[in-house]
Amino acid sequence: MTLYNYHEPVLALEIISLLVRKPGVYVDGTLGGGGHSLAILRALFESGCSEGSLLIGIDQDDAALREAGGRLKEYDACTALVKGNFEDIEGIVERVCFERGIQPKVMGILLDLGVSSFQIDTAERGFSYLRQGPLDMRMDRDSAVSAADIVNTYDEKDLARLIYRYGEEPRSRSIARAIVLYRLNNGPIKGTQELADIIRGNATGRDKIIKTLSRVFQALRIVVNGELDVLRRVLYDGIECLDGHGRMAVISYHSLEDRIVKTVFAEKEKSDWGPKGVGLREPLERGSVSFVTRKPIVATEQEIALNPRARSAKLRVIEKI
Ligand SMILES: C[S@@+](CC[C@H](N)C(=O)[O-])C[C@H]1O[C@@H](n2cnc3c(N)ncnc32)[C@H](O)[C@@H]1O
Repeated sequence: MTLYNYHEPVLALEIISLLVRKPGVYVDGTLGGGGHSLAILRALFESGCSEGSLLIGIDQDDAALREAGGRLKEYDACTALVKGNFEDIEGIVERVCFERGIQPKVMGILLDLGVSSFQIDTAERGFSYLRQGPLDMRMDRDSAVSAADIVNTYDEKDLARLIYRYGEEPRSRSIARAIVLYRLNNGPIKGTQELADIIRGNATGRDKIIKTLSRVFQALRIVVNGELDVLRRVLYDGIECLDGHGRMAVISYHSLEDRIVKTVFAEKEKSDWGPKGVGLREPLERGSVSFVTRKPIVATEQEIALNPRARSAKLRVIEKI
């Protein structure tokens, strides 16, 4: 059964059971249409944990904030929706809690990475190679650099590097060459379909074309929104924000994101025993988190059948010690 038109929340039951355990401050760093936030709020109320609880919902997209604002209306009193980037999580939590006169005791942080179905399906946002739209791809429409700026100003070498590094596309060099050649002959590339046609000309076989298109579009989106850098920052700063036994849950959708989540969580779990051979009895510094899930949780076939976006989702959860 589909619950939400804007964006069906992925792994929602797992998120609720692993994240919502006590009253406190919960941060949904990727509010989107508010699907997960709504589920968290309902769980807080149903389990008698609503007293003293606050949900802070962050998104950098005004359209998402409008949509979520409508959906979460009945929980207005214990919800604060903030336009911002989740990389600023510490400042946002401090400010909102100060304004409300509550302790910033964060019991749960959720990050459901990437873009929402709504953003992808809105042609004018330029996220999809299936829809005619401007080459935009900014989640935050106040930010300065769009995909068109990158596609039309990067030189061939930088384009190839970007497509290879952030799209993991083996044909990165020939695609970059084709983009630059097209620009020389036709002027700036303006639309998603113009770019998609150039990419199509550089891949053969239906499956390969679709993979190549999604890899190149993914690469551009990652660079436009600085996605991997802000992810690293929010993982470190988010862990700092958590109160003892507070949890952080992260859903990633591609290997570049998942690798970062896995690496940062493993680093924060490990104690520092100093240089090898010193034989300390106590570590210099203890790990600050423990794993709630050592292996990532993935969606069931049943969920995937209802919500195909769940197919590539990987959920990792840690707990602050
Ligand atoms: C996958 S959707 C989240 C959907 C949401 N969980 C729901 O149930 O409706 C990701 C959302 O996070 C937002 N987002 C992604 N990166 C962000 C960042 N660095 N800071 C703030 N919002 C971000 C996007 O604009 C998008 O609305």
